[in-house]
Amino acid sequence: MEVIIQPTAEEASALAARIFGVLVRSKPAAVLGLATGSTPLGLYAELIRLHREEGLDFSKVTTFNLDEYLGLGPEHPASYHHFMWENLFRHINIRPENTNLPDGLARDVATSCAVYEERIRAAGGIDLQVVGIGSDGHIGFNEPGSSLASRTRIKTLTERTRADNAPFFGPAEEVPYHVITMGIGTILEAREVLLLGFGPRKAEALAAAIEGPVSPMVPASALHFHPRTRALLDEAAAVRLQRGNYYRHVFANKPVWQRV
Ligand code: PGA
Repeated sequence: MEVIIQPTAEEASALAARIFGVLVRSKPAAVLGLATGSTPLGLYAELIRLHREEGLDFSKVTTFNLDEYLGLGPEHPASYHHFMWENLFRHINIRPENTNLPDGLARDVATSCAVYEERIRAAGGIDLQVVGIGSDGHIGFNEPGSSLASRTRIKTLTERTRADNAPFFGPAEEVPYHVITMGIGTILEAREVLLLGFGPRKAEALAAAIEGPVSPMVPASALHFHPRTRALLDEAAAVRLQRGNYYRHVFANKPVWQRV
């Protein structure tokens, strides 16, 4: 896993956007794996800027999101459908029919999950998947204990994750107990993965994922099985890493041809 530490979340997000931009310019019909939550907001703001100011063209791009709350329809303000439209899709020239999220209103959840996996396969697989990390080490909504081979399915959130996500819901609203999430096995099939982690609240989970043993108890650690994962952190999220200086040294001395 390549670990890149940037001074701020803004700089790390700009680098992540550059990585997306390089892909979309070289492969206009790229398949992007997207995430929600506070972490990718800077990335999406920068992609919007690249679209508006530098003509980054999303007209042929297809997207698949990691997860969605069960029981929330696309109109619900805390649904991830709504999040994606508000924070990215409506600001760029993506075709609505090319955007995909798990169906939070699915009646037959198992079939809906299998269909989602099939849609990813039919699109040719995901070229570049962005993931955040939960304070409990989850990626997508694969909570600790998730099978490292898991596929898109229903998961029950931990109380910690429900508390972490409560700010996205109204004061009188309950955070759903269940979600549909791509599995860890699904995520590992993306051709490239970007793990983003910002701020001191993520430092412990990131240290466990990056420098601890691979374990279902830290789902993000499964990314060590992926041959092309880059972790982009800000300094605040990197404080618990033991080899921070080495990662900075590697990035500062990258051969020119290896740079983004
Ligand atoms: P956050 O969530 O970006 O809102 O911190 C990340 C995650 O739970 O994966």
